[in-house]
Amino acid sequence: MSSKLSTFICQNCGSETSQYFGRCLNCNSWNSIVEEIKSKRSRYQEIKNNKKSKPFNEISSKKISRFTSGFREFDRVLGGGIVPGSVVLLGGEPGIGKSTIVLQSAGKISLNEKVLYITAEESLEQVKIRWERLNQNSIDLKIFAETNLSLIIEEIKSVNPSFAIIDSIQAIHNHEMQSSPGSVSQVRECSSELQNLAKDNNIALLIIGHVTKDGALAGPKTLEHLVDTVINFEGDNISSHRLLRSIKNRFGSTFEIGIFEMLEEGLREIKNPSSIFTNKENISGVTTTITNEGTRPLAVDIQALVNKTFYSNPRRTTTGISINRLHQILAVIEKHVGIKLSEFDCYIATGGGFEINDPSSDLGVAISILSSLKNIPPLASSSYIGELGLSGQVRKSNNLRTKIEEAVRLGIKNIIVPKLEEELNINFQNLINIKEISNIKEAVNYSFSK
Ligand code: TYD
Ligand code: MG
Repeated sequence: MSSKLSTFICQNCGSETSQYFGRCLNCNSWNSIVEEIKSKRSRYQEIKNNKKSKPFNEISSKKISRFTSGFREFDRVLGGGIVPGSVVLLGGEPGIGKSTIVLQSAGKISLNEKVLYITAEESLEQVKIRWERLNQNSIDLKIFAETNLSLIIEEIKSVNPSFAIIDSIQAIHNHEMQSSPGSVSQVRECSSELQNLAKDNNIALLIIGHVTKDGALAGPKTLEHLVDTVINFEGDNISSHRLLRSIKNRFGSTFEIGIFEMLEEGLREIKNPSSIFTNKENISGVTTTITNEGTRPLAVDIQALVNKTFYSNPRRTTTGISINRLHQILAVIEKHVGIKLSEFDCYIATGGGFEINDPSSDLGVAISILSSLKNIPPLASSSYIGELGLSGQVRKSNNLRTKIEEAVRLGIKNIIVPKLEEELNINFQNLINIKEISNIKEAVNYSFSK
């Protein structure tokens, strides 16, 4: 039975209302609400009789078997590989390289598994041209160019692959719905049907969704709670580096990152990522910190430029760290180091624009600001780790041991860290000089005394 329902959906945030408003009540955006007719009947819905609740001791816990995506960096972000029957959402800006990574990966997987690549945006010929450019040689990868959901479902059922890719969710549509492809209700409806199909047939499904920085195409955002894993593909048009970052993962840890480089012949994994975000030069205004992204330690440079201001409100801008953190760090320096910064503009940029979420980068930011202000390079071959508390104390950092190990691996001579709780020192004797500090003042004295 099919019943038509009319609903009003904000194309910006996906919230639903039963009547039209000029402005969304949820996200306050203007003119974003569109009437969409949705069909309540789901084409792919089988009622299973064998689904009953069970006590824990009757549930067998078999180890998750995974297959590789063909890229070590991609596998890391997925939590160790692709889980059969799982649904992964790969989001990113148009043109960032989603189709490229997926096609390379599909080529490698298809050497061992049955793979179906559904392209709704490009023709078979276009995919073939890309395929040749990427120098792939698998002969078993199946490609299907279609935008109609029913035909896509039929094809997936008939091929029955281990891994299926939808490129992209915004380009496919369900004919029974009146709304246009890419609208929130189409995106939701199509993905939930595909997800049911994938779960019931144990097919790993990767859904590509275009997401813009300002969230203008929010359709895929509304899917995040439905899927098992959400991965963002990030980067900018200037540098060739690309980052895969897991935002949500039911089968692994989040904020895990994989780093690639976009070349003429496709994406290549970067084996030693710390090397691309650091410069190892000892110049004023630059420090190195070691941050933790997911389970991996990563060295990143922090650059500061502090200049006398010409404005009544000094300018503060950041690339790679949040502007609020910068304001907080500046306030801590003013209060606890006693330096007046209100007459200075302050610009902060991380190496390669790498986005740092780990608060233990604070100390590195503070020292680079002071180094730029004084025009004195910080201690040579050093790395700074520690979160700055509001009262000027240096707070302890997560995974300090792995961070110190990374510094040793990179040949850094000095590391400035918060007071250690355990005797970490003993393990690193002769490998690196560890300086424990408890507040910003101490760090400043130590960094600029030599
Ligand atoms: P694409 O994968 O089509 O992006 P998306 O699917 O996310 O929209 O990537 C497009 C960009 O990547 C395009 O600007 C060209 C570039 N590119 C390369 O630099 N090298 C390559 O081998 C390929 C296939 C693309
Ligand atoms: Mg594409």
